[in-house]
Amino acid sequence: MRIDIVTIFPAIFDALDISLLGKAKQNGIIDLRVADLRDHAHDKHRTVDDTPYGGGAGMVMKPEPWGEALDSVLADDVDPVVIFPSPAGEVFTQRMARELSEESHVVFGCGRYEGIDQRVFDDAASRARVHLVSLGDYVLNGGEVAVMAMVEAIVRLIPGVIGNPQSLVEESHEDGLLEYPSYTKPPVWRDREVPPVLLSGNHGAIAKWRREQQLERTKRVRPDLIAEE
Ligand code: ADE
Repeated sequence: MRIDIVTIFPAIFDALDISLLGKAKQNGIIDLRVADLRDHAHDKHRTVDDTPYGGGAGMVMKPEPWGEALDSVLADDVDPVVIFPSPAGEVFTQRMARELSEESHVVFGCGRYEGIDQRVFDDAASRARVHLVSLGDYVLNGGEVAVMAMVEAIVRLIPGVIGNPQSLVEESHEDGLLEYPSYTKPPVWRDREVPPVLLSGNHGAIAKWRREQQLERTKRVRPDLIAEE
């Protein structure tokens, strides 16, 4: 999968060189490229923002650098997806991560300030599938941290990135429920025992207990997930 990230803070994405994502980059599972939006601003100060038409607080990102940056990353592509992280977008979910993990080219455009000139989205939508996507109902200073989270959630679902694919099946949100609690050795720690069923060797009983735990936890912490089913 090719991933392009357009940002005014390319250094934030240096962190993608470590851990499993770094390995996925090294062994060619992902071709991740980070572009500096300011390379497409041609004045002396490499300006990427300006005051909003109609007035109001804050600055808006100018269309010209964005247009040029997107022209460059979308060049010769047939069917790209372009994601603009935004608190005004649809909420990112595991389902979305899975769908995006099956794409061949995903572009992320990280906005800052009060947003990006609307014409950038409209122009991109004329040659790509464009989505505004929010990490959740809160406001970040810009899209970079949201893109870090989305890239991690997407890339770990690409076959070959996680050593044991079974661990992807059993985690939270994969079956619409939160995951069950996990335990490892020792069997007693600070007077706290591991639930005896997990030591029983009875796989049917263990599966039943885990399912009950998932349901109980989901009802308690995220009743909205059950209501949606
Ligand atoms: N940019 C600012 N806030 C954001 C959020 N909640 N999700 C995605 N991008 C953002």
